[in-house]
Amino acid sequence: MIQHALDRGYEVVGVCRPTSVPKLDRFKDRITILPGRTDDREVIQQAVKGCDGVLTVLAPWGMQHYSSGTAQAVLDFAPPEARLVFSCGWHITKDGKDQYSRTFLVTVKVVTWLARLLRAVDIDDQVEACRRIFASGRRWTVVRGSDLEEGPSEGLPVWRHHVGDPVLQSNRTRRTDYALFMVEALRNDALIHEAPAIVSSQCPSALAAKADAQ
Ligand SMILES: NC(=O)c1ccc[n+]([C@@H]2O[C@H](COP(=O)([O-])OP(=O)(O)OC[C@H]3O[C@@H](n4cnc5c(N)ncnc54)[C@H](OP(=O)(O)O)[C@@H]3O)[C@@H](O)[C@H]2O)c1
Repeated sequence: MIQHALDRGYEVVGVCRPTSVPKLDRFKDRITILPGRTDDREVIQQAVKGCDGVLTVLAPWGMQHYSSGTAQAVLDFAPPEARLVFSCGWHITKDGKDQYSRTFLVTVKVVTWLARLLRAVDIDDQVEACRRIFASGRRWTVVRGSDLEEGPSEGLPVWRHHVGDPVLQSNRTRRTDYALFMVEALRNDALIHEAPAIVSSQCPSALAAKADAQ
C-alpha cells in the first residue's frame, strides 16, 4: 500500500505497532513512521493531522476492540474532507443485500466462534467497526476483500456492489492489488459511501464475465 502511494507521489505517514517498525525499513527514508497501535487515539490524532486521505486496515486481532477502536479514532480525528478508505472481508454487509453461499456462512460462523474461544480474533468487532463507519457522515469507502494470495500484480481488481454476483465467484485477489484498489479509491469519488466487494480482474469468474459482455 505504501509503495502504491509513493508511486503516485503522495506524502505518506504510516502507523504500525512498535514491533513491526523494522518491516518498513525499506521505506524509512521516504515516509514518516509513527510507532503505535492503530487504536491509540493520540497516535492517530497526530498521524492524520492535515492529511487528504486515510487508508485503514481493520484488523480484528485480540479481544480489546482493536477494529472498532481503530475506526473510531480515524472517524474522530481525520480532517472533515479527508477520504477514508477501510479494509475488511466479504462477511461485512452494508445493506443486507449480499447473497452468501451456505459454505461461506458456515465458515464465518465457525471461524468467529473458534477465534472468540481462543480469544485471538474478534470478527464481531470488525462488524461493529463497519457499522460505525456506515453510520458516519464521513467520505468513506469500505473495500471488502476476497481471499488474498501473494504474487505480482494482476492489475486493478473489479468490484461489485454485492457478494453473490457471479463476477466475484472465484473469490481471490492478489494482496498488492487489494492495496492498489484502496489507494486508487482515494481519488475515485464514485466509491464514496460504497462497500465494493472486489476480485482479481484476471481470475476465471471475472474473465468469464468480461467474455460474456463482449
Ligand atoms: N487474509 C485474507 O485472505 C483476507 C480476505 C479478505 C479480507 N481481508 C482483509 O484484509 C485486511 C488485511 O488482512 P490480512 O490477512 O493481511 O491481515 P493481517 O495479517 O492480520 O495483518 C493486518 C495487520 O494486523 C496487524 N496485526 C497482526 N497481528 C496482530 C496482533 N496480534 N495484534 C494486533 N495487530 C496485529 C499488523 O499490524 P502492524 O503493522 O501493526 O504489525 C498487520 O499489518 C483486513 O482488513 C482483512 O479483513 C483479508
